[in-house]
Amino acid sequence: MKKTIFFLENRLFFRKFKIFASNERKEKTMSIHTPPIRIDTPYLPFGDMKNAPLYQKDILSVNQFHRRELEAIFAVAHEMEEMVRRIGTFDLLKGKILANLFYEPSTRTSASFTAAMERLGGSVIPINEVRYSSVSKGESLPDTVRTLEAYADVIVLRHPEVGSAALAAQYASKPVINAGDGVGEHPTQALLDLHTIREELKQVDGLTITMVGDLKYGRTVHSLARLLSRFDVRLNYVSPDILPFPEEIMAEVAAKGIPQTQYTNLEAVIGETDVLYVTRVQKERFEDPQAYERVKNAFVITPETMQQAKEEMILMHPLPRVGEISMEVDSDPRAAYFRQVEYGLYVRMALLAMVLGKA
Ligand code: CP
Repeated sequence: MKKTIFFLENRLFFRKFKIFASNERKEKTMSIHTPPIRIDTPYLPFGDMKNAPLYQKDILSVNQFHRRELEAIFAVAHEMEEMVRRIGTFDLLKGKILANLFYEPSTRTSASFTAAMERLGGSVIPINEVRYSSVSKGESLPDTVRTLEAYADVIVLRHPEVGSAALAAQYASKPVINAGDGVGEHPTQALLDLHTIREELKQVDGLTITMVGDLKYGRTVHSLARLLSRFDVRLNYVSPDILPFPEEIMAEVAAKGIPQTQYTNLEAVIGETDVLYVTRVQKERFEDPQAYERVKNAFVITPETMQQAKEEMILMHPLPRVGEISMEVDSDPRAAYFRQVEYGLYVRMALLAMVLGKA
């Protein structure tokens, strides 16, 4: 009997030992053979969304966006607004660095990209005055960009030459965001303008948008008209004779089936307008100072102008303004330009988060 018990205990012991040894082998085998996290999976080890629509993309022109991507950007911007209201600053982009490279003056674009990055927990290399950088020694844009991308994860660029952002993007392997290239485009402004219209009027299709002022050199209206051409809108252009909306952009917009009409008189269209988008006559773009003097006050929005407008119209301006909207209009609830500034923060937070794979 004792022998039998001893034999059974031994068998049990050896069985247990075998199971233990085999489990240990399995564990070892598993730890040897468990594949490491692969970098071609949709989610990178630190949670980057590699399959997100804007991941590591340059933002150079509004032409790169379709309606579905616009909806995604505005949905993220809306969430950013909620988060800022609830907690102010959060660590979505902690450890990420933005190089903010401005060859032209800016208040809103530069400050809002800085604020956007900092509200998301990231940091900023500010080069707002290239006079104090090596650009003043003659360093080229490609070299400047290739240098900054060694330090930063994303580059925001404002430059006086059309096509400069595209040139920078050719040389940079990190994403480049166009913050205005001369009289070319200002895509992030157009995105925030469209977001403002959606948030304020709850729709875009069916609206009549009237753009007023310097439509020749105003890059914000060039980008906005292109972006609006993805929707079912009517566009009116009101400008002095010498500052008409560019024909080539009108042709692009017409190709999308959008009705467009040019005027030199605001009274003709103010009553039918849902969005009145006013722009500054840009002194810095004029070669002849007398020509600027002749047209600088061609259109000034006053309380009397607003009396002719619809009750639910919104008045927008990319800012800065230098007299084309009277300050008496600021208290009119239809004056949306400072709300527009705030929407810009949320849109730029969304763009940074999306380009860096966090949304
Ligand atoms: N709207 C805009 O681009 O303003 P800033 O020139 O101040 O950046």
